[in-house]
Amino acid sequence: MTSYLSELDFEPARTLNILASARRLKAERGRDRNDLAGRSVALYFEKPSVRTRVSFTVGIQELGGRVVELSSATTKVGRGEDPEDFAAVLGRMVHLLVARVFSQEVLGTFARRAGVPVINALSDERHPCQALADAQTILERKGRIEGTVFAFVGEGNNVAASTGLLLAALGAEVRVASPVGFGLPKERLAEARGLAGSVTQLQDPKEAVDGADAVYTDTWISMGQEAESEERVRIFRDFKVSPELMAGAREDALVMHCLPAVRGQEIEAELMYADNSAIWDQAENRLHAQKALILDLMTG
Ligand code: CP
Ligand code: NVA
Repeated sequence: MTSYLSELDFEPARTLNILASARRLKAERGRDRNDLAGRSVALYFEKPSVRTRVSFTVGIQELGGRVVELSSATTKVGRGEDPEDFAAVLGRMVHLLVARVFSQEVLGTFARRAGVPVINALSDERHPCQALADAQTILERKGRIEGTVFAFVGEGNNVAASTGLLLAALGAEVRVASPVGFGLPKERLAEARGLAGSVTQLQDPKEAVDGADAVYTDTWISMGQEAESEERVRIFRDFKVSPELMAGAREDALVMHCLPAVRGQEIEAELMYADNSAIWDQAENRLHAQKALILDLMTG
């Protein structure tokens, strides 16, 4: 049973097939399909979501499937039911489990026990569905990923890791600029070795964006880090994506953000709706990329 728990679970050729399928699905939007007729998907959320919830719900319905939504508040996992037992039960009732959780390890437990494919809809460690949508966006807007220079400014968090590693797997030069102690975990840098492209951890945002084709940022305060908000705002204050920082990138460089954004914190609001902003395409492409992923896992 194949699951998608990490952006590196699939070889580049399979990822490129999914991206090609996502492009076709986007072009045929509006025509409902029946690939998932008679099949049900559980969406499980331990953390809040707008984009992931809506894109999976709408996408599964457009493919002809049914959705049941669960959260920590409506299940018993937080009240003592073992995640293994939870997954074993769901696997008897649904054909796919999409889960947003804190622990990447729990996703592994789900995948081992459910007996149906599991999709990582964000964990503390990774956000591979965001990475697929980001790769689709860069392909659309730049025509290629291989050889492009991709700069991520901010924490080496789940989004930096997944989008960075996926783009590097597809041949991009990835640079991540973070304050000391907030860079990519060493395990992620180890995973980057041997990929077609490269991932380099830097501390200077200007060095990272120099000549970049795309400049990406994410919140300084991820879900679960709210207690550290004040300290983080101080630590990250020189890691804002601003027009001044963008001046060091290529003139046609894309501005990217996975959303939700805290305007004036990690990104200046004026950049979000500028012509070179790819942010809204990224959000839309969650729908198409995830539909393509589901088709790969369930009908491929
Ligand atoms: N980008 C993203 O995953 O957004 P949500 O947290 O709203 O799902
Ligand atoms: N890094 C953010 C991404 C939200 C989509 C978080 O984990 O909260």
